[in-house]
Amino acid sequence: MKITSIKYSNLLIGMAFVFAAYGKQPDGSIDQKVDQLLSQMTWEEKIGQLNQIASYGLNDDIAARIKNGAIGSILNEVDPKTINALQEIAVKDSRLSIPLIFARDVIHGFKTIFPVPLGQASSWNPLVVENGARVAAVEAASVGIRWTFAPMLDISRDHRWGRIVESLGEDPVLASRLGVAMVKGFQGDDLSQPTSVAACAKHYAGYGAAESGRDYNTAIISGEQLRNVYLPPFKAAVDAGCASVMVSFNEINGVPSSGNEYLVKQILRDEWRYDDIVVSDWHSIGELVPHGFARDLKHAAEIGINTTIDVDMENHAYLPFAAELLKEGKIKEAVINQAVRRVLKLKYELGLFDRPYIKTGNNVMYADAHLQKAKEAAVESAVLLKNENNLLPLSQKIRSIAVIGPMADAPHDQMGTWVFDGDKTHTVTPLAALFAEYGDKLKINYAQGLTFSRDMNRSKFSQAVEAARASDVILFFGGEEAILSGEAHCRADIGLPGAQRELLAELAQTGKPIVLVVMAGRAIEIYRELPWVKSYLFTFHPGTMGGAALTDLLFGKAVPSGKLPVTYPKMVGQSPIYYNHKNSGRPAGDDLQTIENIPLEAGQVSLGNTNYYLDAGQSPLFPFGFGLSYTTFEYSDLKLSTTTLDKSGKIEISCTVKNTGMRAGAEIVQLYVCDRVGTITRPVKELKDFDKIVLQPGEAKTVSFTLAADDLKFWNNHDEELLEEGDYSVWIAPNSTEGLESSFTYLHGK
Ligand code: NOJ
Repeated sequence: MKITSIKYSNLLIGMAFVFAAYGKQPDGSIDQKVDQLLSQMTWEEKIGQLNQIASYGLNDDIAARIKNGAIGSILNEVDPKTINALQEIAVKDSRLSIPLIFARDVIHGFKTIFPVPLGQASSWNPLVVENGARVAAVEAASVGIRWTFAPMLDISRDHRWGRIVESLGEDPVLASRLGVAMVKGFQGDDLSQPTSVAACAKHYAGYGAAESGRDYNTAIISGEQLRNVYLPPFKAAVDAGCASVMVSFNEINGVPSSGNEYLVKQILRDEWRYDDIVVSDWHSIGELVPHGFARDLKHAAEIGINTTIDVDMENHAYLPFAAELLKEGKIKEAVINQAVRRVLKLKYELGLFDRPYIKTGNNVMYADAHLQKAKEAAVESAVLLKNENNLLPLSQKIRSIAVIGPMADAPHDQMGTWVFDGDKTHTVTPLAALFAEYGDKLKINYAQGLTFSRDMNRSKFSQAVEAARASDVILFFGGEEAILSGEAHCRADIGLPGAQRELLAELAQTGKPIVLVVMAGRAIEIYRELPWVKSYLFTFHPGTMGGAALTDLLFGKAVPSGKLPVTYPKMVGQSPIYYNHKNSGRPAGDDLQTIENIPLEAGQVSLGNTNYYLDAGQSPLFPFGFGLSYTTFEYSDLKLSTTTLDKSGKIEISCTVKNTGMRAGAEIVQLYVCDRVGTITRPVKELKDFDKIVLQPGEAKTVSFTLAADDLKFWNNHDEELLEEGDYSVWIAPNSTEGLESSFTYLHGK
C-alpha cells in the first residue's frame, strides 16, 4: 500500500501563511501608544531604555538608576521576588512607569534541560525543537524571564569551535527550518501571553566561520558564501517574526558586526525590512576598540548607534556618551527615537505594561509533561553511527552488563553547555536509568574507570576491566564534560579527552562486545577507537532525561532515528568540513594513494594530484545526514513530474521508501540538488528539503517534494541574486552521499 505522507515541511509552510509572524500580531494601537509615550520622554529616559545591564540583585544604586529611568532591561536576574521588586521600582517610582524586561540565556531549557541545540538538530524534527523551546519558555517565564538569546543560527562547519554545540548544524535549510521552529516555541502564538518569551536570532553574522575554529576569531567570508550559506537562517527567523537579533562578536572581512552597516543597515534593515530590536552582544560595541575599529568607547558608541544597534548589552557606552555625540552632531535623534520605539514596542507586545509582575509560587519546573518532552527530544537526538551484527538493541538473552566510563553517571555534565539554571539533582543519568529499569532483571556491574572526562588517572582501570570480564556486554559512556564546549571553549584536539582511549583499549582486550555511547558538544575524533567497538551511539549532551532516553534506545524500547546535522570528520585536520563544498578543479576519485600505500621514492606526480589528504583521504568519517536505525529502509522508484522547469513552473520529485526490516522506525528523507554549471561555482550538493516519516515493518510510503524555480536561486559576489538556465542533478536520499539520482533542465521560459 502506498500512502502519501504529510510532510513537516509542508505543514510548516502552511502554518507560516496562517501566522505571518509567530507570536507577533500587527497592532496599530501599540504604535500609537509607543509614539505617545516617546513624546513624553526626556533624552536621558530614552537612552535609559537602550541600556541593558547585568543584574547584581537589588541595591540602592540599582534602585536609583531604575527610578531615574536609566535602565531598560536587565540580564541574568532569575529570582522572581527580586524581579518583582526591581519591576516595582520601575513601575511605581520611575517618572513614566515603563516596565523593565528581564532577559536570560535560556538556550536549551531553563530547568528541564533538553539536548544541546546541535543534538536537537539531529532530530531533523521541527516539532521536537519547537516543544523544547516551548517548555523552556513556560519555565523561564514563570520566574519573569521574557527575553531569551536564542536561537543561535550560526552555520557551523568546524568542530574545534566550542560553539558548534549551540548551533543547528552546517546546513542553511535545516538550520532555517529548525530555527523558525525554535522562535515559534519561545514566542508562542502571541507574545502577550504570559508564557511567551521574545526570541533572539544570533549571532548576526558569520560567527561560525571563525578562522581555525577559535572563538571570537576573524572571519573571512565571500559575498556569495555570506548570502548563500550564513544569512538564510537569519532571514527565515526574521520572516517568522523573531522579536530580536543579536550582532556577533567577530569581524567579517575587516568589519566587526557591531559596526557593520552593510550587514545591519543594508541587509537586515533595508532589504529585509527588519524593524525590531537589534541588540549588541555582551560588550561587543566596547570591543570595537580592541578590534581596532573604534578609537575609544565614545567612538564605539557612535558606531554602534549609527549601525542601528538599538540595545547596548553591558557595553556601558550609550548612557555616558549619547548626549555628547548628539551635541557634536555625530548621531541623530531620529535614530535614537527609532531604537527606543523598538524597545517600547516589545514591552507593549509582551504585555508588560498591563502585567508587569509575575505570580510567585506557581511551580511549573520539571513538570512531568516537560520531562516527557525532554525524553522524547533525547531519543530523537541520538544518532546511531555503527551497529555491527545488530548488537543494538541489546538482546533479551543478555544477563549482565558492564557500565563503564566517565559519562555513565555525570548528572552535571550530561546537561551540556549554557546551563545556568538546570539542577543536576533532577538529571536522570544512564546509570540511574539502567538500575531503575533493569536493576532487578540484569546483573549491572558498574565501574567508572575514570571519574571525569579529562581524568588521566588509571588506578581504577583494573576494576573496570574486572566488571567487563564479568559481563556479557560493555556499555561505555564516554565523551566530553560540559565545560569542554560552548562559548570560548574550543579545542584543537577533538579526540576523547583524558585516558578514555587507553581505558577503551584495555576493555577491547577482554573480547567482550562494546557499545560506545558518546556524550559531547561536538563530533569527537574517534576513527582510531571505532574498530574496537561494535556499536557507536552518538548523543551529544542529551540533557536532564538523557539516561532514560538512552536506556530505551539501548534496549530497543525506542528506535534511533537521528541523523547528523554536521559532517563528522575522521580527523580534526579536515576542519572546516561540510558536505556542500565546491568540487575544485581536481576532485579526488575513489582510488586514492594514501600515506600507508605510497611506494618508496614515488614520483612527485604519481599520487594523482587531486584534492585530498594523504592521511585522511577526502571523505569524512560519517557524512552529513547520516544515521542508522534498528530497521532498514529501501529507496526506489524516483519520479520527476517533468524534466524541464521554467520560471513559473514546479517539479514534483517523489520516490518510494519502504521499511524492509522487522521494526517500526522513522526515516529522515532528504532532497538534494546540484546546479552543475554556474557563473560562479556551485556546491556539489545542496539540501533543499527533508521529511521525517514513520514506517511500520514492510510498509512503504511515497515521499514527494516540490521544487520551484525560486528554490534554485543563488547569490553571486556582487549582491545579485541569480537564477540560471542549465542542467541540475537531483537526489532523494537517506544522507548526503547516497540516494537515487535524476536530472532536470531549467529554462526561464516566457
Ligand atoms: C555572549 C554570547 O556570545 C551570547 O550568545 C550571549 O547571549 C550573551 N553573552 C549574553 O549572555
